[in-house]
Amino acid sequence: MEVTRAIETRRSVGRVKQDPVSSEIVEGILESAVHAPNHRMTEPWRFHVFVGKGRGELARARAECARLMAEAEGEEEETISGRLSRERKKAFRAPVVIAVVSKEGRDEVETLENYAACSAAVQNMQLTAHSLGLATIWRTGPSAYHPYMRGFLGLEGKDEVVAFLYLGYGDVDERPRRREPVSKRTTWHEG
Ligand SMILES: Cc1cc2nc3c(=O)[nH]c(=O)nc-3n(C[C@H](O)[C@H](O)[C@H](O)COP(=O)(O)O)c2cc1C
Repeated sequence: MEVTRAIETRRSVGRVKQDPVSSEIVEGILESAVHAPNHRMTEPWRFHVFVGKGRGELARARAECARLMAEAEGEEEETISGRLSRERKKAFRAPVVIAVVSKEGRDEVETLENYAACSAAVQNMQLTAHSLGLATIWRTGPSAYHPYMRGFLGLEGKDEVVAFLYLGYGDVDERPRRREPVSKRTTWHEG
């Protein structure tokens, strides 16, 4: 698929089939991530791939984050269990979930730029998946920033979870994309 066509036709797809995705395809998508630009060749990305029953580990971590958040908010015991079960299920929304982590840099600017590089890596993954006929959605949400999730994924210092990328074969038709014309967001400096 042409790059421009891939960019224009990619859509975030939240609901995908549970059909498995081969590890060769997942590896190809990961390979595309590491071709992203990165300043000073820090290669700041780290990946955790959750597939099949392995998603259970992520489900438990999500549920633990939800339990800690609910307790901190003083939520009643009876409503907590429903919240935990909803959180657990979220890990199974796609056959593959890839957590993309950005490593802390040697200074603040490098940390910022590492995150930027990881964002480019996620976009590479989304476009590669799309060109292979797969659907993705980039998700974060409160659990991505929760100390328990950080510990679960082995984050240190200013490392960050950049994305939980949900990947699978799409189940829905393409929706038209809503975007303001780029001219409304652009200032030209032409001398
Ligand atoms: C940093 C980031 C975090 C996101 N987190 C979520 C999320 O938690 N839940 C969600 O449904 N979509 C999330 N998205 C996806 C956006 O909702 C989606 O890209 C947007 O609606 C535009 O749709 P499109 O990707 O089809 O163009 C996130 C996107 C980015 C870049």
